[in-house]
Amino acid sequence: MCGIVGVLGTHEVSPIILEALKRLEYRGYDSAGIATVRGDGKLDRRRAVGKLVNLSDLLVHEPLSGKAGIGHTRWATHGAPSVENAHPHKAGPVAVVHNGIIENYAELRTELAAAGYAFETQTDTETVALLAQSFLESGLPPRRAAEATMARLTGAFALAFVFDNEPDLMIAARRGSPLAIGYGDGEMYLGSDAIALAPMTDRITYLEEGDMAILTREGATIHDGEGHEVARAIKQIAIDPTQLEKGGHRHWMSKEIAEQPGVLADAIAHYASEDAIKLPQDIDFSGIDRVVMIACGTAFYACQTAKYWFEKIARLPVEVDIASEFRYREPPIGPNTLAVFVSQSGETADTLAALRYCAGKARIASVVNVSESSIARESDIALPILAGTEIGVASTKAFTCQLTVLHLLALKAARDRGQIEPAIFGEMLRDLRALPGLINQALAVGPDIRETAFALSEAEDILFLGRGQMYPLALEGALKLKEISYIHAEGYASGELKHGPIALIDDSVPVIVMAPTDELFDKTVSNMQEVMARHGRIVLVTDADGAATAGNDTWRVLTMPTAPSQLAPILYAIPAQLLAYHTAIAKGTDVDQPRNLAKSVTVE
Ligand code: F6R
Repeated sequence: MCGIVGVLGTHEVSPIILEALKRLEYRGYDSAGIATVRGDGKLDRRRAVGKLVNLSDLLVHEPLSGKAGIGHTRWATHGAPSVENAHPHKAGPVAVVHNGIIENYAELRTELAAAGYAFETQTDTETVALLAQSFLESGLPPRRAAEATMARLTGAFALAFVFDNEPDLMIAARRGSPLAIGYGDGEMYLGSDAIALAPMTDRITYLEEGDMAILTREGATIHDGEGHEVARAIKQIAIDPTQLEKGGHRHWMSKEIAEQPGVLADAIAHYASEDAIKLPQDIDFSGIDRVVMIACGTAFYACQTAKYWFEKIARLPVEVDIASEFRYREPPIGPNTLAVFVSQSGETADTLAALRYCAGKARIASVVNVSESSIARESDIALPILAGTEIGVASTKAFTCQLTVLHLLALKAARDRGQIEPAIFGEMLRDLRALPGLINQALAVGPDIRETAFALSEAEDILFLGRGQMYPLALEGALKLKEISYIHAEGYASGELKHGPIALIDDSVPVIVMAPTDELFDKTVSNMQEVMARHGRIVLVTDADGAATAGNDTWRVLTMPTAPSQLAPILYAIPAQLLAYHTAIAKGTDVDQPRNLAKSVTVE
C-alpha cells in the first residue's frame, strides 16, 4: 500500500525524502509527491503521476526547498491516479500524507461541504486535510487541530501532517497502518517501515496502535489512544545493507529467487537441530484438536500446502481460509484450536482483522517475515520466517520460507501427538536440511526454464495442474504468472480438469503440470493424456524418473532434482517462480512493480 516518509532535517529535505520514497516504492507506484515547509514558512509541494522517477524529474525542473517535509508514494484506493489525487494533500495551512482508508470520508465530506469547504480531489485523504484546516481556522493550535481531526476519523490508517509557519513540527498518527519514528542527530524522521529510514538512522520507535506523535528536531512526544503521554522503546535495528541493493541482479525478483538456498538454510538452522524442533515459545500440539490457517494470496497457498502436511503427517485437522472471507463467516473458534496467520509483511489488513477476530478465543500463532509487524506483535507466538527483506512485489523467497516453517510446525505437531516414529522424524529433519542443496540444483535448470518461458509468452491463457500437495502450487504458479506477465492463468487440481475446465483446452493453451514421481504420479499422467488427446501442449515439470516415464509425448519437460516427496512443493516453487519471471521478461512487463499491485496490502 502507500508509503509515508517525513523528515525534520538540518539540510534541504526533498532529496532525502525522495531517496526514502525509493525504498518504499514497492508499497505503491501510482503517483508520488512531497510537501515541504519553505524558508519563508509557507508549505509548498510537488506531485507527479506514475513511478517515482516522474517526481524525481519534476524536482529537477521545479526544485522544492525546505528543511522539513513529508512524502508519499501512492497505491490508489479512492480516486484514479492523477496529479490532483496524489498526496500530499494540502488544505490552507496544512499538508497531509496518508496510508490506509478513511471509512467515514463520505459523511465528513458532506459535513465539510456544508460548512463551505471546496473539494479538489476524489480522495478520502482530502477530507483529513480539510478537517484539520477547519480546526486550525477555528483557532486550535496544530497539535490540538490534529487531535481533533483524529477524533473524527474512522478506518485504518497512518497519517503525517506538516503546517505553514511550523518548520520544526511534524505530527504523526497510527491507527491500523504501520508507522516508525527514526531518531537522528538533530534530525527526526518518520517512515512506513524501518527500511525507508535505514540509511539515515538505526534508532527506531515503532508507534503502537492509536498513538499520536509530536515530532520536533529535539525528539518525539508520544500519546496513546487515550491521550496519555507514553514512553515507547527506541530500538537499535540492524538492516543488512545487502538487503537494500539488487546485488548485480536486473530485478529484485531474480535476486530474491536466487537467495532462496541461503535463506531457507537460515530458517531451517533457526528451528531445527539434529533431532528436535525448537520454537521461540512452545506450542504443545497434544492439547490441540484443530488448526485454522488464515492468509491472503501467496501466503494462503502456503497454508493450503501445509494442510496436506498437518493432516497427513500429524493427523491433525486443518481448515484453511482466505482472510477476507474468514471473519465474515463468523466461524466458531474453540480453546483447543490453534489459529495460524501467515503473512510476509505482517500488515495485511484482512489477515490482521481475522487475527483480531480470533484473539481471546484461540491460541494465536503467526508465521511472518517482518518481526515488528502488527500481526507478529498481536500474536501469542510469532514465528519469523527469516527470508530477509522482500522487495519484489511478487512474493518468492517469503513463500518458500513460509512453507519451510509450516513444514517444521507440522513435524512438531506430528511429534507432540505421537504420530511419527523418532527415526522417521529424524530422517525428515535430515531431508529438510538437504533441501537448500536441492533448491540450488533446481535453480541451475534456469536456462531450460527460460527457453520454455519464451515459448509461453506467446500464449493468452495458461493452465497449471497439480494433484495432492502439488495442487496449491499449481494455484501459486498461476498467480505468479498472471501477476507479473499479465497472461491469464489458472491453477486446477489435476483430477478436477475433466469437470469443466477441460473445455478450455486446444492447441493454443499450454498446460503446466507439476508432477514429481509420487504415489499420485500415474493419476496425474492420465489427466495429462486427457489434455494431450485434445491437442493441449503440456509442460511437464517432474524429476528424472517422471521425465523418463511420461516425458516423451509432452511439448516440453523441465527436470527437477529428485526430492523426498513431502518437500516437492517447496522445491517445485522454483520452476513456478522462474517460469513467471522469464515469461514476464519476454513480455517486457515491469517485473518488480507489476501494474495495479502493491506489496503489503493494508486496506481491506
Ligand atoms: C503474490 C503476493 C500476494 C501476497 C498477499 C499477502 O505474489 O505477494 O498475494 O502474498 O498480498 O501478503 P502478506 O503475505 O504480506 O500478508
